[in-house]
Amino acid sequence: MLKYARLTGWGKYLPENVVTNKDLEEKVNTLDTWIQTRTGIKERRLAADDEAASGMAVKAAQDALRVAGLRSEQLDLVIVATVTPEMIFPSCASLVQHAIGAKNAAAFDLNAACTGFVYAAATASQFIGTGMYKKILVVGSEVYSRILDWSDRDTCVLFGDGAGAVVLEAGSKPPGFLSFVLGSNGARPELLNLLGLCGNPNDPDKNRHYITMNGSEIYKFAVRTMAKASKQVLSKAGLTIDDLKLVIPHQANKRIIQAVAKSLGVQNDKVFMNVEKYGNTSAASVPIALCEAAEEGRLDANDYVALVGFGAGLSWGAAVLQWGSG
Ligand code: ACO
Repeated sequence: MLKYARLTGWGKYLPENVVTNKDLEEKVNTLDTWIQTRTGIKERRLAADDEAASGMAVKAAQDALRVAGLRSEQLDLVIVATVTPEMIFPSCASLVQHAIGAKNAAAFDLNAACTGFVYAAATASQFIGTGMYKKILVVGSEVYSRILDWSDRDTCVLFGDGAGAVVLEAGSKPPGFLSFVLGSNGARPELLNLLGLCGNPNDPDKNRHYITMNGSEIYKFAVRTMAKASKQVLSKAGLTIDDLKLVIPHQANKRIIQAVAKSLGVQNDKVFMNVEKYGNTSAASVPIALCEAAEEGRLDANDYVALVGFGAGLSWGAAVLQWGSG
């Protein structure tokens, strides 16, 4: 049985337009020093007017296919994790599937907000585990610049645009994904939300199409949950924190990442961080970080790496991956 989903390709795309904290000082009542001290973010990339989630996903996907040495027609499935598709339907995944020429692949989008990539990787792994599919493209692509209130300093300084992609292929034994933990608690949607196209009859502003967030509640949730999910997923894989080469957390805030590292008892240098360059790219953040870790040579064959994320829902997810293509 080909039950292990091996990660054989990775790619990323970041828009060219770099927006620094100083640039934001001109838009909103904020300071570079505040943003850097409270979040670790120095700059972020924002999509050009003619860029959308599918186009960015395509660029990341083409990179990932090249690294995997696969032709797009060999793909069985395309999953795109996004909450910022240019169309609700057709799905972003269908647009990507056509654009890359994956004519034999099924395609669908997945929404778990910033946890979307971990959910999508888990979903893809199940298709591989059951034997239904053998080659799957998983992408996280987001254009948060279009769902931000650019006059709200509480949120607009935190996010950026980008895409990351991986190719997963079936293998009969490790390496590959070894365990997943996924969770959701929808009790308090007011903590972090974006209304849908149909609005919300219970919201005072029924047509509010930008993010609102209770930052300090999300902060506490993020630290608590990412640490707990990381421990659970390691235990499920029969590993300890000392077995890990790298932890790749969702890149939302440097202080959140450092607090999680402290709670796990790992040195900061074992925890990947690029939030200073891109801000929070939501579902794209973990695959972009994974891609950069690979490009920087920080992962060798058979190394264990933990991926962990959190986001709106509230949702959370973690995975243990043994690196390598077998
Ligand atoms: N510039 C300057 N001052 C600001 C800014 C800003 N951009 N934003 C807020 N402030 C002010 C606040 O108004 C507050 O002022 P006050 O004390 O006069 O009221 C002060 O700074 C301190 O605010 P806090 O909320 O205490 O700051 P905190 O240290 O909690 O940092 C932050 C705020 C960065 C938002 C933090 O809480 C955080 O990162 N939370 C998590 C957010 C997150 O990760 N969201 C992920 C979403 S994932 C998804 O699915 C979309």
